Amino acid sequence: MGAASGRKTAAAVTVFGMCGIIGYVGRTNSDQPLEVACEALARLQYRGYDSAGIVVANENGLSFVKRAGKLSVLEQALVENPLPAATAAIGHTRWATHGGPTDANAHPHLSANGEVAVVHNGILENHAELREELIQAGVGFRSETDTEVAAHLLARALAEIGSLPEAMRATSKRLEGAFTLLAVAADNPHLVVGARRTSPLVVGLGEGENFLGSDVAAFVARTNRALELGQDQVVTITADAVNVTDFDGNPVKAREFTVDWDVSAAVKGGYATFMEKEIHDQPMAVRDTLLGRLAPNGRMRLDELRTAESVLRSADKIVVVACGTAAYAGHVAKYAIEHWCRVPVEVELAHEFRYRDPVVTEKTLVVAISQSGETMDTIMAIRHAREQGAKVIAVVNTMGSTIARESDAALYTHAGPEVAVASTKAFLSQIAATYLLGLYLAELRGTMFPDEVRAVLDELELMPAKIQRVIDGEEAIRDLAGQMRDVQSVLFLGRHVGFPVAMEGALKLKELAYIHAEGFAAGELKHGPIALIDEGQPVFVVVPSPRGRDVLHEKVLSNIQEVRARGARTLVVAEAGDEAVAEFASQVFWVPPTPTLLAPLVAVVPLQIFACALASVKGLDVDQPRNLAKSVTVE
Ligand code: M6R
Repeated sequence: MGAASGRKTAAAVTVFGMCGIIGYVGRTNSDQPLEVACEALARLQYRGYDSAGIVVANENGLSFVKRAGKLSVLEQALVENPLPAATAAIGHTRWATHGGPTDANAHPHLSANGEVAVVHNGILENHAELREELIQAGVGFRSETDTEVAAHLLARALAEIGSLPEAMRATSKRLEGAFTLLAVAADNPHLVVGARRTSPLVVGLGEGENFLGSDVAAFVARTNRALELGQDQVVTITADAVNVTDFDGNPVKAREFTVDWDVSAAVKGGYATFMEKEIHDQPMAVRDTLLGRLAPNGRMRLDELRTAESVLRSADKIVVVACGTAAYAGHVAKYAIEHWCRVPVEVELAHEFRYRDPVVTEKTLVVAISQSGETMDTIMAIRHAREQGAKVIAVVNTMGSTIARESDAALYTHAGPEVAVASTKAFLSQIAATYLLGLYLAELRGTMFPDEVRAVLDELELMPAKIQRVIDGEEAIRDLAGQMRDVQSVLFLGRHVGFPVAMEGALKLKELAYIHAEGFAAGELKHGPIALIDEGQPVFVVVPSPRGRDVLHEKVLSNIQEVRARGARTLVVAEAGDEAVAEFASQVFWVPPTPTLLAPLVAVVPLQIFACALASVKGLDVDQPRNLAKSVTVE
């Protein structure tokens, strides 16, 4: 069936790679370029961690080290083969797409004459024909990557044109697909040149030094001043200047922005893992997301929502697009926004939305939720929605990210950098931010009185302290994890907002502890899943507040009894004081009394702690689970 006239159909599938890149130039030869690159790669590991490499440039030319394996392998290699003092460096941490994770396929890739080095994030779709062309011209290849063609093309263009920025522009025009490329050349160790098409690249502005990074995490420890780059642009940095042009060499004025992340948020700060640290950061993440949203007149303020009020008032449907944990935050938000705004809210996985010809009109308000702002499925979904005339509001954590830039408005979550692959504090801050959006819309559309909005905001402001109380009780849930090292499968049940919390609990366990886990709507049990219950089957149940809608609470109590009667080990997350629940629970994890719609902010915390602790008990890599990257920049 064809698309109705006037509606745009899905474009061809696009594939992008995911990796982290850093570029740096300082004034004089020193160890600084190497230090900056190592530090940045440590912060960027979440983008990929199967190999890494660094090349430095000084007046003697280029020197590099690259290794397959985690960053620690590269760090050890750098101890054994120290790189010289230099003025510039580029570095890369990889998530393999073309060519397996080997030393040869690790970046940087050097041109045949060793004069040019490049690192690359993305996928060059025409690499095969370019490789063939270069082979015909006598170029020998050392790796299986698509990237290596860029190194050779760039070196040849440089030999012909004599200027690295010019050569980069000429080379970029020959490349198809998505790319961020950074390059250094032996003949000028005082500059690094970058090019971007679709894959992310931001500039960090320093004093007597400048930076390029795949995102601000690369340089936020050194500077909080940054420049956004647009599509098809080439940037040249020296120690004292930044120059941006389009691929034709026309000057471009890049927008400057300030990164308000606290650097200490991107270090483990005494915790064994980033995930533990980020779980403990959650009260602050929610507090910071709520900060400054109340105007002196008591009305809600979302200054960054520059979308015309008429658009927000007249929207006849809200569609939330997101992936993974961010999508579960969207599921939670649906319950609240529909209740407060009386407008239909659909939540859809971005990749499903993108390719199913959804009904989207000028009156559809799309809310894209993303921690990284670089999730390719979500980027493609918002592009598709905007092509249909919809307005897009991004709820996003990373400033200057692609999703923030490509949306009509960005409502930032202020969770700070999230490094662990498993999302925790981003989830809570996404719920807080989407709730702010819901309350703002409700006030604007007249479905809530200002004093009603104020009452919810007052409750929201109590949440950081309540989340802290749950964290303070973490020992009990850690003990449980210690007993469950050999468990094969765990089920999670919830109703209403407890349902997405159950799904999030299951996702955490799958990705961290590699255990089969499923989250179900408790009402669905008797429609099939109850057949899974056997003697000793662990089942987490998220119980709604007994002070909320009676029927919800009663129904979940019945569900607990149903699984318990069939031998389940019932692990219950319930509100302190809910004595009725204790009778049917093998173990209860108490959370502070909280209104029903806000309860996910506390109920999910024991589930996060459990997954994190179980992965640790099993000796698994909590921050970098197998096969995953933090930011999924491939479709
Ligand atoms: O950066 P995003 O929020 O767009 O990422 C979306 C998902 O990839 C992410 O939430 C993923 O599911 C996490 N690993 C879950 O812990």
